[in-house]
Amino acid sequence: MPPQKKLHNLAIATFEVRHGKTLADLLLLHGAIPIAAPALKEVPLEKNPAAFEFGERLLKNEIDRIIFLTGVGTRALMDILKTRHTENEVLQALRRTTVVPRGPKPIRVLNEWKVPYAFIVPEPNTWRELMAELDARKDVIPLKGRTVAVQEYGAPNPELTQALEARGARVLSVPVYRWELPDDVTPLESVIDRFLSGSLHAAIFTTSVQAEHLFQVAERLGVVRRLRDALKDVVIASVGPDCSRTLRALGVEVDLEPQSPKMGPLVQLAADRIPAVLEKKRNGCAVSVREAVLAVAANDAWNESPFMKACRREPVPFTPIWLLRQAGRYMKEYRDIRAKTPFIELCRNKELVAEVAVSAQRALGADAAILFSDILLLLDSFGMGLSYLSGDGPSVERPIRTAADVKNLPDLAAEHGLSAVLDGVRLTRRKLDARIPLIGFAGAPFTMASYMIEGGASKDFTRTKALMRSDAAAWDLLMEKIVRVTSAYLKDQAASGAQVLQLFDSWVGCLETGEYERFVLPHSKALIASLGGIPVIHFGTGTSALLPLMARAGGNVIGVDHRVPILEAWTKIGHQKVIQGNLDPALLCEPREKWESAAQKILDDIAGRPGHIFNLGHGVLPETPPENAVALVEFVHRASRRP
Ligand code: CP3
Repeated sequence: MPPQKKLHNLAIATFEVRHGKTLADLLLLHGAIPIAAPALKEVPLEKNPAAFEFGERLLKNEIDRIIFLTGVGTRALMDILKTRHTENEVLQALRRTTVVPRGPKPIRVLNEWKVPYAFIVPEPNTWRELMAELDARKDVIPLKGRTVAVQEYGAPNPELTQALEARGARVLSVPVYRWELPDDVTPLESVIDRFLSGSLHAAIFTTSVQAEHLFQVAERLGVVRRLRDALKDVVIASVGPDCSRTLRALGVEVDLEPQSPKMGPLVQLAADRIPAVLEKKRNGCAVSVREAVLAVAANDAWNESPFMKACRREPVPFTPIWLLRQAGRYMKEYRDIRAKTPFIELCRNKELVAEVAVSAQRALGADAAILFSDILLLLDSFGMGLSYLSGDGPSVERPIRTAADVKNLPDLAAEHGLSAVLDGVRLTRRKLDARIPLIGFAGAPFTMASYMIEGGASKDFTRTKALMRSDAAAWDLLMEKIVRVTSAYLKDQAASGAQVLQLFDSWVGCLETGEYERFVLPHSKALIASLGGIPVIHFGTGTSALLPLMARAGGNVIGVDHRVPILEAWTKIGHQKVIQGNLDPALLCEPREKWESAAQKILDDIAGRPGHIFNLGHGVLPETPPENAVALVEFVHRASRRP
């Protein structure tokens, strides 16, 4: 009978390496979503003088007792010794010695080798039971004055050494493998992110080292305390007493531990108990992932930032400000990076992405950071062939021109193919000041469609309008395909660490209102509605006439450009919405008096009403003197400061 799917849709982190696949398969059988983060790599100690010394002394009958801690280690030790001695020599020597295996796995190896052993350690087979058995047999197997070799697998066990020495033994540690962090720690980092964002339900630890390594990575990221807090809302299952002890020492409470310290019983217990324990831990109510994200967000510093308060139309100490395209060519640091790295490569390099976004936020003193990326990367996922030709802007190799093209366009659904961007979101979030919110973004359906159809920049959008007006069914199908993948992509950005999402409908202002209402509004609305409660900034340019409809399509914040006076825009949008804007970016290329009086005018118009985020009407122009951008941020902060 197939097992009941008791873990239906619960996301469970696992850290196993050797049996990672088996563990994942078992969890899948129970309906869980295993999230694997292999937590270690085994480093064989080829140059292992301690093991060779042990071999020499074993053959000279100088070793009185040998404790084998693991099966794999027992075999690995033989492999090392066989480089110097014959297998038979080693086996003969072992048979002359008192051999103590810790559990069933080394016993299996010894049986294979026909090497007799002293006794069986009772479950849960930790070094404590082993010592208790030795103590019970101290007349038969004395330790005082004897040389005891301890096969160590991975990290040494100082407690066992101390216990043996306390009984008068001379301990010879024989390391076989060392455990190190894996070469690629991104899965561990990403699991930590998921814990922090509340999107995991349980964690299964099958060795102590896994827990140690998880916290080692958390330490590197500076999130130990937050991880510990986040794990309080997660069901923690541990394979056995040693692993549980390590977890507790790290400040993690263990919820489940099987009677018998093995993977099978562990998974069975997990399947039986995780749902109930989860419900209890989360206050008796079934918590959706989304609610969990919000609950975690409620504790985070960025949530109380002026920017987030403005998004909620709460009073703020000063008007928050950030600049569209605040990271870009007007900054020398950016141009230097670009001189060495092509644009698309830069967007896919998390280190550079984080550096560019964070350094721009810091240089400006802006109240939010925006992910460094580009709306058009998704076109590559659709297989359209994207390039950025220097000077000419973006270009698409295989644009969509006919209804047949639309039909042939893949329906990517959740497969946005931009995990590299998500890595960038995670690293940016981590490097950013905790009080500064991070804005993720994507192109809105119309603007994306326009690039897909025109194949690049356009002045009049002739082809886009032609398809829209001539074949409504093809148009809707195209928009639906865009909406589906964009929705998944934006949700992933939020889960990876973006607090707010901006939708860029940069070119939608070319449409008349009736067309917007028929051909765009339903699609933008579906997209925004699909994002749940994540705050959304809905931005467009040239949208004066469209503003009421854009507000209807959705978004907590509506971004407006400089072509419309800000109060007029707010009236059109409705004062229940937040407004973002709207200084003419060209002014920032002018002397201070010019942009300062225009910025002052915006602040005067708003007159301190809650719900305004200062910004440019469109992106910072490449020729802008960077000191003007810095001075604008400083000016808005100062001029808007409330008593
Ligand atoms: O601080 C930030 O806002 C940077 C992140 C960002 C970029 N593009 C980086 C970029 C964002 C939010 C975008 C969005 C984007 N991309 C939009 C919507 C915003 C808007 O301005 O309306 C659009 C229409 C695009 C498409 C795009 N990408 C174009 C038309 C171009 C070339 C022309 C131009 O403005 O540079 C790009 C390239 C691009 N995207 C650059 C940057 C920094 C310049 C690339 C370079 O270094 O040469």
